[in-house]
Amino acid sequence: MVHQATTSAPVNIACIKYWGKRDTKLILPTNSSLSVTLDQDHLRSTTTSRADPEFTKDRLWLNGNEEEIKPGSRTHTCIAELKALRKTTVEDKNSSAPKLSTYHVHISSYNNFPTAAGLASSASGFAALVSSLAALYELPVSPKDLSIIARQGSGSACRSLFGGYVAWEEGSASDGSDSYAVQVATESHWPGIHALICVVNDAKKGTSSTSGMQRTVETSALLQHRIKEVVPKRMADISKAIQEKDFDTFARITMADSNQFHAVALDTTPPIFYMNDVSRGVIAVIEEYNRAAGKIKAAYTFDAGPNAVIYAPEENLKEIIQLIVKFFPQQAEFKDPFALFGGKLEGRVPEG
Ligand code: ADP
Ligand code: DP6
Ligand code: CO
Repeated sequence: MVHQATTSAPVNIACIKYWGKRDTKLILPTNSSLSVTLDQDHLRSTTTSRADPEFTKDRLWLNGNEEEIKPGSRTHTCIAELKALRKTTVEDKNSSAPKLSTYHVHISSYNNFPTAAGLASSASGFAALVSSLAALYELPVSPKDLSIIARQGSGSACRSLFGGYVAWEEGSASDGSDSYAVQVATESHWPGIHALICVVNDAKKGTSSTSGMQRTVETSALLQHRIKEVVPKRMADISKAIQEKDFDTFARITMADSNQFHAVALDTTPPIFYMNDVSRGVIAVIEEYNRAAGKIKAAYTFDAGPNAVIYAPEENLKEIIQLIVKFFPQQAEFKDPFALFGGKLEGRVPEG
């Protein structure tokens, strides 16, 4: 009997950025965050887990290369939590259920987009890892329970267990039991919004999100202002904008929050630069596009890397792609500018 399961999880791109931990082991954030989960058949991680009594240790392959699972590591924690749930929720209740919690697992995952380049591979990666083990173990648990486990793999992963518009509530419990993601609105609530992914550089970033945000927590005074004075209001305002399908407010908050996130990165000692000249060029083009139109037609946001994500209503997409192609001439190499991938487009804007 083969015990194996394969699942996929999409990336999510934050509009209100998570940046800072109050507990680095449990991965509890210093502020709530809110993101949009992209379509399943676009940027995603696909993970297969297999349990077998013949296996001699737990092993993980990422894009075909083996990664060591160190004791106490995030991957180790996620696997241990899911094995414990298998035991208590399945095996202890049904004595004929195979004792999969006692077998070692082999896990293999592929990302269909650049890994560790600021396109949220840790989000889709840990969401897929947790959901594939939950499927393998046939766990009778809720997405909320899985969100809490995925959070301990990578904070942003807790949001990829849900589709559509998703908030990660920071919570206040010291054990992390109230720090998980909730859906603010389904994908079908506001279906006309698209995410255009502009890959500026697909190389692995110099400063991982984990180490970058830790340095920011330790050294940035601006971060304290951000988490206390700025984010709570933005969370309330953007949630309302999503409910009301108010693109103008959604877009203004998204751009402002991306810019403040990169400002706290710069306020870190030593400073962290995730955006480059092409990233700043994309900001200038979108700002001018909105100014010339006299209204907000598109919103840019950048995670911990130089790659741009542009949120826009469908009717503006063609225009936006033409603009990007015009201003980044030899660099723009859209795979298929007008092919919608289940509602999302992908473009490449390599550095030049
Ligand atoms: P990103 O901006 O891509 O999220 P991070 O620095 O946050 O970059 O995280 C990258 C790390 O996430 C990788 O080095 C790897 O440890 C982990 N990761 C990425 N993809 C996967 C995956 N599919 N399965 C398991 N872990 C993954
Ligand atoms: C800029 O979730 O990758 O993308 O919890 O240390 O794994 P760890 O960090 P990660 O940080 C994501 C930071 C961000 C903003 C966001 O996704 O909210
Ligand atoms: Co990440």
